[in-house]
Formats: sequence, structure tokens, C-alpha cells
Amino acid sequence: MPNPYISGTGFYVPAREVTNQDLMQYMDTSDEWIRERTGIGARFFADGIGEGPSDLAIPATKQALENAGLTVADIDFIIFATSTPDYYAPGSACLLQDKLGFELIGALDIRVQCSGFLYGLSIAEQYIKTGQFRHILLVGAEVQSSAMNLTTEGRDTAVIFGDGAGAAIISATDEDRGILSTHLHAQGKYAKELWCEVPASGLNPRITPEMLKEKRQYLYMNGREVFRHAIQRFPEVINEALDANGMTTDDVTMVIPHQANYRITQFVQKRMKLPPEKVYSNIHKYGNTTAATIPIALHEVVEQKLIKRGDVIVMAAFGSGFTWASALLKW
Ligand code: ACO
Repeated sequence: MPNPYISGTGFYVPAREVTNQDLMQYMDTSDEWIRERTGIGARFFADGIGEGPSDLAIPATKQALENAGLTVADIDFIIFATSTPDYYAPGSACLLQDKLGFELIGALDIRVQCSGFLYGLSIAEQYIKTGQFRHILLVGAEVQSSAMNLTTEGRDTAVIFGDGAGAAIISATDEDRGILSTHLHAQGKYAKELWCEVPASGLNPRITPEMLKEKRQYLYMNGREVFRHAIQRFPEVINEALDANGMTTDDVTMVIPHQANYRITQFVQKRMKLPPEKVYSNIHKYGNTTAATIPIALHEVVEQKLIKRGDVIVMAAFGSGFTWASALLKW
């Protein structure tokens, strides 16, 4: 059976950097409040005039292909994880397929929010193991900025999120390396604790001027509830991956958590008694880019040579749904 491994990574963020000071023009907030509560110093926003997740995915994909030593012609399947697709229909994977001139291969969107990249990784894992595909493009890309209420009313959520894209190529190998296991969970009971209500297909029309006035088009987050669940689920799902492979945190070179909030990451690191340098964080630069955080962080870990061939890494996510997931890899 072929082993699925990550043969290349890439990332991209839009041109416009928005610092905490910049946000102070729109809302009553401060650099100190944002840094203290979230660890975020800046994030990047798309241009707001047509730059969607499929556009952000283009440079990220090109870089991942180059790093894998592959071209678009080598890719057998596209998986696009996003909670903020360019359109209701068709999916962003189809748009990317056209924009980059891929063959007429399958193009699948998945909507699993912050856990999207790891759910996508588990899908890629199965296709590679069964031998159906040899190279799969997995993208996590988001434009969250247009779902932010950039006024004082929306400040608790608006300061957290940013836009960006990360890409990884999952390839088949006969070598002893790659994805050792993936673990997926969801609890839809908490759907409304972190959700974007409209436009909604159950409403006809899907969105009205009244709904816009009521700000129902913006992402709503119950921060305390998210925090409470996240600090429980992250350690749980990391331990699940370790147990499944008969390992402990001592066997792990790097944990790459979804970049939700630095306070959540610190809590998990301390609770799991991990040294801080074993838990990667870049949220200060990009904010929370939802499905894009893990592939962006993974790309940086690879670029900075923080992991080498044979090292064990664990990636873990928690987010809207609620959903949570982990993956354990031998690099
Ligand atoms: N700037 C200044 N003041 C603010 C801001 C802001 N951006 N946002 C809220 N405040 C104010 C509040 O209005 C409140 O003021 P009051 O005391 O006068 O009413 C005060 O700060 C404290 O508000 P709380 O909501 O109690 O702040 P809390 O300490 O809970 O922090 C936060 C809010 C950061 C959202 C916190 O709940 C949290 O970390 N939650 C986790 C949510 C999260 O990180 N989600 C990540 C995205 S989801 C995911 O990826 C899983």
C-alpha cells in the first residue's frame, strides 16, 4: 500500500497588511488589548473588490507545486478547504482548477472551517492509500475580512480573523514516511456558537436589507464558549493521535496547532507540558486564517528547517461546527 506524504508546501497572504493600530481607525480597541487577549499584531485583508480564496490559492499552489518538483499536469485531484468560498456555487476548487489550468480532474470543496485542512488531509490520505491517486493538491484558503463587523460592536471577533492561503501536495511513496493517522470529530450541537447565519438557503430571499441592518451576515463568535471547548478538545485530539501510534509527546518534534488564538495555544502547550519551542505559532503575523492556518504554519516550519526527515509532527485543529481533528505524520 502506498504511503501518503507531503511532498511540497506553499502559502500566500494578500497585499494589504492591517495592523492593530489600523483597526483602531474603525473601532474602539487597542494594540495592547488585542495582543494580550489573542497574541495578534497584524493580519492581511483581501482587496474587497473580487479577490477570493481561489485567487489567494493561486500563488500558494504554485509554490507548493514548485517545492514538490511537480507541475499542474501531475495533479490527480484537488481538495479545497474553505469556510468562505468565492461563491455559493460552484465551489472554489472548480475555480482554482480553471485558473491554474489543471487537467479535467476532480475538484472537491470541503466546508469544515478551522478543521478543514486536517479533514482534507484525511481524505487525501485515503485516496493515496487505495492507490486511486498519486498526487493530490490540498488547499486551505479563506477571505474572512468580508465577514467581519469592523465596528466597536463587532470588535471581539473582528480583531481575530485574517485572510490567507496555504497549500500542500500529498503524494504517494513506498518509503517509510508520511501520514500515520488522522482523527476527525464534530459536535453540531454547538453550531451557533461560531457561525455565519446569512445568506441562508433556508430563507427566501436568502438575504434582505433588514438582515444586513441586523448584521446577520457577519461571523458571530461566542468567545468564552469557544475557548472552553478548544482547551479541552486540542489536548484530547492530540493525545488520541499519540495513543493511536503508541507515542508520547517525547516522540514529537513539533506540534502545529490551528492558530485560533495565542492564549488557546499557550494553554494547550502548558497543559500538555510541552516546551514552547515544540508548539509552532505565527498568529502574531497573520491572525486566525481559519482553514489556512495549519498549511501556512506547516510551510513556515518546513522553510525554517524546524523539522527534518524522520521527525514526528502532530497537527491539530478546533473550530466552528464544532469540529476538531488531528494528524500525526512521520516527516
Ligand atoms: N478591544 C477592546 N476591548 C474589547 C475588544 C476589543 N477588540 N473586544 C471586546 N472588548 C471588551 C469587551 O467589550 C468587554 O468590555 P466590558 O468589560 O466593558 O464589557 C471586555 O473587553 C472583556 O470582554 P470579554 O468578552 O469578557 O473578553 P475576554 O477576556 O473573554 O476575551 C476573547 C474575548 C479574546 C474573544 C476570548 O473570549 C477568547 O479568547 N475566546 C476564544 C475565542 C477565539 O479565540 N476564537 C478564535 C477563533 S475560533 C477558532 O479558530 C477556534
